[in-house]
Amino acid sequence: MPERILVVEDDSTIRVTLGEVLGKLGHEIDQADTGAAALELFRARDYDLVLLDLRLPDLSGLEVLKQMRESDEQALVVVMTAYPEVRTAIASVKAGAYDYLNKPFELDDLRELVKRALETRRLRREVARLSVSAARAAPVEGMVGSSTAFAAALEVTRKIAAAGRVPVLIRGESGTGKERIAQAIHALSPRAAGPWVTLNCSALAEGLLESEMFGHEKGAFTDAKTMKPGLLELANGGTLFLDEIGDLALALQPKLLRALETQTFRRVGGQKEVRVDVRFVAATNRDLEAMVRTGTFREDLYYRLNVGSIDVPPLRERRADILALARHFLAEAARTMGLAEPRLDGAVQPLLESYSWPGNARELRNVMERALILSGGAPILALHLPREISSRASDRGGAEPGLVPLEEIERRHIRRVLEACGGNKTQAAKLLGITRLTLRNKVNEYGWQEFIERGEPGAGR
Ligand SMILES: Nc1ncnc2c1ncn2[C@@H]1O[C@H](COP(=O)(O)OP(=O)(O)OP(=O)(O)O)[C@@H](O)[C@H]1O
Ligand SMILES: [Mg+2]
Repeated sequence: MPERILVVEDDSTIRVTLGEVLGKLGHEIDQADTGAAALELFRARDYDLVLLDLRLPDLSGLEVLKQMRESDEQALVVVMTAYPEVRTAIASVKAGAYDYLNKPFELDDLRELVKRALETRRLRREVARLSVSAARAAPVEGMVGSSTAFAAALEVTRKIAAAGRVPVLIRGESGTGKERIAQAIHALSPRAAGPWVTLNCSALAEGLLESEMFGHEKGAFTDAKTMKPGLLELANGGTLFLDEIGDLALALQPKLLRALETQTFRRVGGQKEVRVDVRFVAATNRDLEAMVRTGTFREDLYYRLNVGSIDVPPLRERRADILALARHFLAEAARTMGLAEPRLDGAVQPLLESYSWPGNARELRNVMERALILSGGAPILALHLPREISSRASDRGGAEPGLVPLEEIERRHIRRVLEACGGNKTQAAKLLGITRLTLRNKVNEYGWQEFIERGEPGAGR
């Protein structure tokens, strides 16, 4: 469907020229020579774009602009001014104009601006449609933890957040709260009102990830029936969160680097440069420096991302936060299940505080949810905790494994190795001399929630 443009201009030569030029681009053009006529048309029909002369015989262009924005706050208006009226032009942008053109202007500049404006229009619609993925980021307020280590990480988070477009790399073991921190960066930044968009780099095959990130032009591949903007474009004016950046295919890394450095990119199958204003926040639980050494992660991209860097400490290095977090998750779960918030029995507290929490905050959350289900709202006792936590006291120091089935020894050994590797299955599988798949099957079989991979990327609860 052609886009409809309203040209408001009292100089008939300019008006007709504009009509012709834009008509040739395939747009449908309406014309008005007074403010009153323009407003009447504007209220009667839907326009994708309005080109508005600021000097009109009856009303001031600024007044027309205001009225248009009042009747439709999404109205996209480009104002045209004579060169000396720069201040009026600026006032009109403040009043909600998308941009301004100084007269006399080159037709090429006009075409370029119209194209950009219409593009913005399409993107805005797309963003509205995808408001789920651009959902509000959680603020730092809901974040629990007062240990020195965690407070320090939060302090860095605040400082980095304020530095508008500086890229950030968040590192930490699985489940430490990297995504929460990333959301806080957005929420505390000057971009908070802009979109928050997440992309999990390990979730999609290389080709799909590329078109998801950069978008594609119509006809870029067989299924590309229409142009589709990438998440980079949807994040314009806001923050793009690249989760599991360590899993980004080597082939895509230079493209991302270029987008980071220049804030421009090309859609898949496209030639033209698309410009954006996006802050990149990436997270990983992998050792990117080691990956740089082995050549699986580009050094230049690593340094570019790591301008602002935040290390989220594992839970075992901030034991002072364990009980507060446990109560927080318990309260949250109780609210969801419509139960009264139960207290933690005195005997449970030291068990929680001394456990190693290889799955960090996420593991703790799962443990508390499960305990609440088992207790049904009564006080949480040791017997409501998983065995590896409740039996730790008797487990410790006992060099004798006792007379237990072989299978039990295997189970305990796998557990220990997994914990030693901080939940990293690739590493654990290597140490155990089994494949990652075998390890995953065992973990599923034992029902170790904290080591079971989440199904849906970005579906954070
Ligand atoms: N300090 C905190 N206060 C409150 N909730 C937290 C905190 N840290 C983590 N959580 C919660 O713990 C869970 C795991 O956190 P998150 O998803 O941010 O971790 P992650 O580091 O991104 O994990 P992964 O590496 O597995 O992707 C989430 O439900 C999150 O809300
Ligand atoms: Mg995460």
